[in-house]
Order: sequence, then structure tokens, then C-alpha cells
Amino acid sequence: MSRKIVVTSALPYANGPIHIGHLVEYLQTDIWVRFQKMCGNECFYFCADDTHGTPVMISARAARISPEQLIGQVHKEHKADFDGFHIEFDNYYSTHSPENKYFSELIFDRLNKAGSIVSRQVEQTYCENCKMSLPDRFVRGTCPKCKAENQYGDSCEVCSATYQPAEMINPCCSTCGATPVLKKSDHYFFKLGDYEQRLKDLIASGHIQKSVANKLDEWFNAGLKDWDISRDGPYFGFKIPGEENKFFYVWLDAPIGYMASAKNYCDNNNIDFDKIWPGTSSAGESPNEYELYHFIGKDIMYFHSLFFPAMLMGAGFRTANKLFIHGFLTVNGEKMSKSRGTFIKASTYLKHLSPEYLRYYYASKLTDSIDDIDFKVEDFINKINSNLVGKFANLASRSGPMLTKKMSGQLGQLDDQGTELINKLTAAKEQVIEDYEKLKYAAAVRTITALADEANRYVEQNQPWVTIKTDLEKTRTTLTAVINAVHILTIYLKPIMPKYAEKVEKFLNVDKLSFEDVETVLENHTINKFKRLVERIDEKQVNAMIEESKESSGPSESQTQSSQPTAAESPEPFKPECTIDDFAKIDLRIAKVIKAEAVEGADKLLRLELDLGGPEKTVFAGIATAYKPEELTGKLVVCLANLKPRKMRFGLSEGMILAAGAGGKDIFMLSVDSGAKPGEEVH
Ligand code: 2FM
Ligand code: ZN
Repeated sequence: MSRKIVVTSALPYANGPIHIGHLVEYLQTDIWVRFQKMCGNECFYFCADDTHGTPVMISARAARISPEQLIGQVHKEHKADFDGFHIEFDNYYSTHSPENKYFSELIFDRLNKAGSIVSRQVEQTYCENCKMSLPDRFVRGTCPKCKAENQYGDSCEVCSATYQPAEMINPCCSTCGATPVLKKSDHYFFKLGDYEQRLKDLIASGHIQKSVANKLDEWFNAGLKDWDISRDGPYFGFKIPGEENKFFYVWLDAPIGYMASAKNYCDNNNIDFDKIWPGTSSAGESPNEYELYHFIGKDIMYFHSLFFPAMLMGAGFRTANKLFIHGFLTVNGEKMSKSRGTFIKASTYLKHLSPEYLRYYYASKLTDSIDDIDFKVEDFINKINSNLVGKFANLASRSGPMLTKKMSGQLGQLDDQGTELINKLTAAKEQVIEDYEKLKYAAAVRTITALADEANRYVEQNQPWVTIKTDLEKTRTTLTAVINAVHILTIYLKPIMPKYAEKVEKFLNVDKLSFEDVETVLENHTINKFKRLVERIDEKQVNAMIEESKESSGPSESQTQSSQPTAAESPEPFKPECTIDDFAKIDLRIAKVIKAEAVEGADKLLRLELDLGGPEKTVFAGIATAYKPEELTGKLVVCLANLKPRKMRFGLSEGMILAAGAGGKDIFMLSVDSGAKPGEEVH
């Protein structure tokens, strides 16, 4: 009997782009959902943008648009990124939705009635200049313990101390730099401790991987603290009913967004939401009709293994069967970094490389553990070129053209040797299915690759390119086995590479493949003309992607890549103080643009030759989206003349010209009227 399953991935924040770190989770989930569908199960995949909170409000202010406009734009961008990677949600919704407001209020009200909400006065950091309470991450200052400067308001990145913003030395608002004050305010708290036993029971029932259950023991041992679920306005979120200026904290309504996305889908598709997400009060202990799984990163375990299930329990809703928790992504063994160009946005990746390379590569690394996975550039190129192109696609490209050109695409029948090969491939089905089911994709890929090796050995032994000259029927028999191998291997790979599989379906002239087709042998069947399935990667493509990621980087050196709540709530920090002596080191000069030209392989760069009243300098400037080279020749610009030369992939950059703006067409170069002379100092 087929299963009914509902799956979610963590909701990405609506204040930043999707990047390759996020994609670990969305690809892991999408592969699992596609696998379930291919097994004939009903499986819904729900997600949404996580839209509320201070960072969205601040970003919207900075862009001079409303938060609603901002989240509207980001929703489109996120959806385009997910589509680009063939991530197929059944519903991609928003937490800023009527359904989410309804469930947030309902759950709050039920928790309140259950006596699980208390109100208490708190002292919070407030910026009188910005007129808002500051989340800890919006306060910067000196660590009270090790005295490291420019640390966040909750913890020190140097000595790992944790503290309150008020304990910092010289705290400042990271939006405006003002010194914050302490202000008293009444807040609502959820009494998490009331649910301790039920949470322990849930976890004992196998709610999370065993390997992370220890972490939860630590939390239980430390004691479950009341959770502050309210924020004072101004705040972008849902107002708490009965309150004038208090809002639900973003982390209260974010996981409820899973329910909202499901509800929205159900209403649009005539499905009874109560079957998917039943209330436990009326349904009692009856088993749920749908299995429910949340895919998440290890950084948001606390919210998903404690807060959210406790809220659901208190409000009388079902909890998930299980959390599937994964690790972070590192690139070449290190945290993703903007300066190294390894903080790669989904949209940047898609400009240079096929999404299926990453789908395949991540699958080849993913296990059921919470260990981090490493994207090694060399290994990536190698796996695509030698396995995907050299093993899988090669089988089809070696057999297809010969069959269609010399035998009108007509298959024959399997002989004993062919049957033996195909039986081996078929026999792996249960193992492959089990590995997908248990999230052991790396193991599945290893098995499938070993089978492809087997099939390639069969081709080598039978040498169809030789037999074709003398024995057409023998060759047809050989190629029939190869085509059947392609058929089975493609079914096995399809959850990972759906578009590749679509191309093979066309080529093999078969309907949409699913796991039940593994045993179907293609004999006396006509296939279609072969079209290339996948291209080799050239190292240059990867380098160009990395280079472009460097150009689009902001000031911070490295970033947490996953759905890390604290980091995602951080604005770009102010840098450490710059003294007048530091500033005096800057040598700004008038420079005349002698020549400007585009830089091959870098969309945003122009190469400028500058006359600085004698010495000439070459500068690479990231202004190509706003200026055409021909507009610049003869212009007087302001150049930071004593910047230490920097070696770039395209050459040495010996300075920097002054320009500012939001990016794209909005970059404004500081140009100077005639009258000034190249080389003149700018004061
Ligand atoms: O950590 C994050 O990126 C959050 N936006 C994840 C929310 S998941 C769910 F709870 F909504
Ligand atoms: Zn401020």
C-alpha cells in the first residue's frame, strides 16, 4: 500500500539570497521527495519564505521600500533559484500570510489558555536614535572577557564567551553607531519546561537521529528555560492580539509557516488539512494518516526539537514523525568565504554550471549523519567528468548513435550474457531504495556507479564498434543490453538528476520512469535519436564562478552558510574605529582615464588605465554594470592611489577608483570637473 507523506525544508530568511550552503538541505529534501514519488507514494513538499523580524525591516528601510515589497522581491528571487536547481515544491509560500497569522494566533491563544504563557518584565537594549529595540546581534562592542573589539552583542567570536549586550564595553547600535540604552518592557514567555517529560518521550520514540540525541540531553540537563516569544514594535511581524505595540517573535511564527504552507496548498487543491495536520485533542491517539518529516540543519535543532513540538503539544496539534538533521557545507575544507569567492550564490552558480552537477555532487557526499560535507572543487570536477560524463552518459553515447544510425533504433533481445548483466543491475534495486529511504545517498551513488562500471566493462568485452563491421545482429544484441543498463541506471539516478532522466526517457522512447520500471526489459523496442545528455566541466567555468563570487562580495570575510538564526539576524557590522591618523594615510588623487576596456570572463569588471600626472596605474573596477568602457575615456576620476596592489586573476590592480551605490546600474563613480589636473591631491 502506498504511503502518504508530508515533507518540509527549513524556511529561508527573506533577507538574503539562496547560496550553495542552503542548497545542501533543499537538494537533500528534493531528492528524497522525488524518490518517494517515484516509489508511488503520495508525498507533498512544503516550504515558504521566513519573512518576519528586524533584519527584514532594516533592509527594507535601507532600500526605501516597504517590508512587504522587499519580501515580494525576495520571494521571486528565491523561487527562481529553486526552480533553477529543479527543486520542486508542492507549495512555496510565505510566513507573511493570512493562514500563518491565523495559526500563530490560534496556537498562542491555546497555549495561553493552557497556562503555558506568562508575562514578565525584561530589560532590553534600545537605540534612541533608531527608535527601536535592538536584537543582540544588532549591538556591537568590545568583549567584556577578552577585550576583543567589534564583537556581536551576544557572544565573542574570539574567546567564545557569551554575555548580554549590556555587559559589553562601549556597546553601539550596529545600524547607526549610537550608544544604546536599557529600557524596561513587558514580554510574553512560553513555559517550555512544562513540556519536559512529553518532549523526552517524543525524543525517546525516535524523533531525531541517535547521534544528536546526546545534544538534547545536555539541554535537558541544563534545564529548559522560558522562551521570550514577543518583541516590541517597530517590528515586522504579526501583532499580538490585544496588544498595541507587541509582535510575535519571528521564531514563533516561522515553524508555524510549515502548517500555513500546507493549509494554503490544501485549500487550493481541495484536500482536508485536518488529515495532514490533525489536532490531537479530538483525534486522540489514533495514528496519523500522513507521515510528517522536517529536514533541517543542525543549527536550528533547538527550535525544532524543543520549542516547536512543545508549542504543538500545548496547542493540541500533531508533531512530526521525525526530524532529518544535516550538517553544514564547507568549501575546500573551510567555511564559505566571500573573499575567497567560495560564498557562492545559487544565481551565480547557475550562470556558470549545470544544476545537475551540484545535485549529483551533493548526493555523492550526503549521508544520514550531521557531519559537515565538503565541496572540494577538484573532486567536484573530477566526479562530474569521470563518473557522470565518463561512466553514465558514456554508456548511452556509445550505444545510441550506433543503434539509430545503423539499425534504425531497433532493439533486439538479450542473450545470456546480457541477461546476466541486467539481472545484476536489477538485483541492486532494494539496496538502492533502502539507501535513498534512509538518506544514505552517498551509498546509493556508490552502488549505482559500481553498476555503471559493470556495464562499461560489458561494452569493452563485447566491442560493438568492432562487431558492427561484421555482425549486425550480434551488435544489436550487445547494444540491447547496454540500453537496458542505461534504462535501469537512469531510474536509480532519477531522484538526483530529474532533467538528465527526462532526456533519457525521450531517447529511450519510454514514459516517465519510476522504480516499478526497473524490471521492465526493453526488447524489440525502438529508441529515438541520441542527443547529448551532459557536458564535461571545464575548470575555467568553476574559476569564473569563484571569481564572480569574489566580485559580488560584501565586507565580511566569512559567513555561516546555513540557516543559522543568529547570523542571519545580523546586519553588516560597523568596522573598528578608524583614527584620524589612519585616515591621513589615504592618498586620493585625480586620475584621468586613458583607456577603459571590458574584462573577459568577469561581467562586472572594467580594466582602467589611469594617468596620475606622471605615473600610470592599472585598476580593475567593479563598475561594468553601470558604465560602458567608451563612456569613460578622458574622464577625471578620484583614485585611491596608495592602495597596496592586489593580484587578481586578470592582472595586477594598483589602486581603486571611488564609486558608490546599490549595485547593478546604480553605481555612481565620483568623477571630477575639468579644471582639475591628473595627479592633484584630493583633500
Ligand atoms: O534559520 C533559518 O534560516 C530560519 N529562517 C529557518 C526557519 S525554519 C522554520 F522554523 F521556519
Ligand atoms: Zn541605532
